Amino acid sequence: MSTWNLQGTSCHLLICNGGSCMRQQGEEVTVAIREEITRLEADRLIHTTRTRCNGRCLDACVVIAYPQGLWYKEMTPETGKQLVRKLVSGDRLETNLVYAFEPDAVATGASVTGIDKA
Ligand code: FES
Repeated sequence: MSTWNLQGTSCHLLICNGGSCMRQQGEEVTVAIREEITRLEADRLIHTTRTRCNGRCLDACVVIAYPQGLWYKEMTPETGKQLVRKLVSGDRLETNLVYAFEPDAVATGASVTGIDKA
């Protein structure tokens, strides 16, 4: 059981550990992201949580950043580390970006549209 002090946290990474993402290096991505956060002494800045399926299995492994509202696809241990370095410098990882909640944002990574919700 943990109760982290969230003072200073500016980003929450939701790392998908659902079945599809775990088959696409979800464990390795999780470990790599957490190791890079530790290496850069960014534990106060970035909080991580393992999640179940986020409903974008074709994008596995999925990582979501809040409050930025950025969804990343096809994450690997290496791109996970790159993402942490980007976050620390206040940037985002354009190469794996699939969706942004920002009204004017344009995702650069091609991806499936997915199934419409009725
Ligand atoms: S298992 Fe990760 S999006 Fe479905």
